[in-house]
Amino acid sequence: MSGFHEKNGVLHADSVNLTDIAAEFGTPAYVYAASSIRDQYEKLAGSMRKALPAGRQPMLCYACKANSNIAILRLLKNLGAGLEIVSEGELHRGLKAGFAPEQIVSTGVGKQTSEITEALKAGIHQFNVESLPELAHIQNVASEMDKTASVVFRLNPEVTGGGHHKISTGRKCDKFGISRDHIFEGFAMAKEMSHIEPLGLSMHIGSQVFTVEAFKQAFEKLPDIVKDLRAEGHNISRLDIGGGFPIVYDDENLLDLDAYAQWVNDIVVPLDTEIIMEPGRYLVGNAGVLLTQVLNVKETQGRDFLVVDAAMNDLIRPTLYEAYHGVEAVQNRDVPKQAYDVVGPICETGDTFTTDRELPAMAAGDLAVIKSAGAYGFCMVSNYNTRLMPPEILVDGDNIAVIRPRQTYEDIIDVETIPDWLKI
Ligand code: LLP
Repeated sequence: MSGFHEKNGVLHADSVNLTDIAAEFGTPAYVYAASSIRDQYEKLAGSMRKALPAGRQPMLCYACKANSNIAILRLLKNLGAGLEIVSEGELHRGLKAGFAPEQIVSTGVGKQTSEITEALKAGIHQFNVESLPELAHIQNVASEMDKTASVVFRLNPEVTGGGHHKISTGRKCDKFGISRDHIFEGFAMAKEMSHIEPLGLSMHIGSQVFTVEAFKQAFEKLPDIVKDLRAEGHNISRLDIGGGFPIVYDDENLLDLDAYAQWVNDIVVPLDTEIIMEPGRYLVGNAGVLLTQVLNVKETQGRDFLVVDAAMNDLIRPTLYEAYHGVEAVQNRDVPKQAYDVVGPICETGDTFTTDRELPAMAAGDLAVIKSAGAYGFCMVSNYNTRLMPPEILVDGDNIAVIRPRQTYEDIIDVETIPDWLKI
């Protein structure tokens, strides 16, 4: 069976019992089910195959900020994905995972010189330009290297999308994208630049966009601007329509992918360009759990705290975005339920995964998972409170691999130094 499911009363990842993983690798630990990533990729690619003509299939550039472990990248590359990167580090990861440079698109609102240099050196597919000063910056770097940079301009479509105000990116007030007027200016500037080849537009309205009609509103901004740019003689041969497709964390009733794919077909396909998409969370979000052990149950007047060994440094989403994550017991799943606040050991009240959650009664030593942690989970970990970054474990059928080991105290403390002048 694929993904996370119960077998003989115990939660499994693919064919592997999560109690075995905890016994062998300890907790907290991220566990990913490869089958779930494959299923999601196939769902997305399948919806596109169904709705879009054969010769017009999008390049699915996985937004690796969601989960950038190189094993996950390789898995997605093997499925046929391209890659969206936002930093030089992600470029290095992508190349190491085996992506061809021409499958890589570079986005991000503050591209640094070294990042542009490395991307040009590699020969990536395109830069998604976020501002006119950035266009000039890319031109300068490219001309010094005598390389031509393929660019598309990121349109700010002035549309509200995104599951939380901190992850909405398409509103007029957001730092992302370029207004319609400035895009025309950008194309005119680019025409005069020696080492820039402008090829089209991009957009990305936000992440976990559960008001999915927002995608349609944003796509509908494209035909007009494409027509007007072409009327001015500009070549528009690429449209990158971003990522943001939501996943179910709780019991959200999400629009199905087929309707989204139909919008792409009806609004974007007629514009007769190459189509690029940048899905992140959708591919990996539900494929990961944070496996954790109960340290103790602290009963106070009015509240029962389930103190677990995972904390906000391991998964920041609940406290940063007030995000809902499902919690499930790994064993003893049928015992009567009771309400818990699930909290970590960090010295902040914000180190709370959930409050008042009905869960099977648990005791110290029991295991639980925090669900839907495959996206923006490990990649946002920190060493706060000098806690070690947890390991990442990939399960594929009955294969198990540690794709990143737990950090050691040497890893984090030995790199620090005490200056001589303090050694008295
Ligand atoms: N493309 C661009 C330009 C992006 O900025 C993002 C996400 C994506 C694609 C992928 O979006 P997705 O398909 O994953 O929704 N840490 C936050 C999410 C931040 C998303 C940032 N940009 C969270 O935990 O919810």
